[in-house]
Amino acid sequence: MMLILKIYLFGMFALTSIYLMKLHFPSSNNEEDQNIENDEPEIVDGIHVPTGLLYQPGMELVQKHCLSCHTADLITQSSGDYTQWKETIVWMQRNHNLWDLGDDEPGILQYLSTHYSNQFLGRRAVITDQNISWYILNAEEDID
Ligand code: HEC
Repeated sequence: MMLILKIYLFGMFALTSIYLMKLHFPSSNNEEDQNIENDEPEIVDGIHVPTGLLYQPGMELVQKHCLSCHTADLITQSSGDYTQWKETIVWMQRNHNLWDLGDDEPGILQYLSTHYSNQFLGRRAVITDQNISWYILNAEEDID
């Protein structure tokens, strides 16, 4: 009888220990979740270094859907408003087997049209009185 009690107590002790250990060292079953939660993503100048995308809300949706066929370079080198990005996506769906983005599509389009819009590409700084120096064009002097 004592033996059974001892085995029982030992068993309880062992189970409790395992339970406590798990609390302290969460198991590696859901490694992916943990990576997202525990590892600080590497961000330099607002850029998510592993992907090259701007680290802004919605980035993870783009990361999830858009990087399996090509790198983010194609995205960061492109620009467009909401409609233009929608067209790019439809084009890839028609020609390159891009899947239906489902509920993620609005978030993706929002992210792309906010951070990769025409507005930010290839525009020189606005000319003001401060950054321009005027000179007098004297065409006659140059012509002999
Ligand atoms: C199933 C594969 C696949 C997925 C997923 C995918 N693309 Fe593409 N994408 C392509 C292919 C193929 C091209 C053409 C590449 C080339 O021209 O070299 C392309 C080209 C592009 C281009 C360049 C378009 C142009 O005008 O040249 C952009 C921008 C782009 N993709 C953005 C995205 C975005 C944003 C997503 C996520 C919503 C995405 N891609 C997901 C296959 C894919």
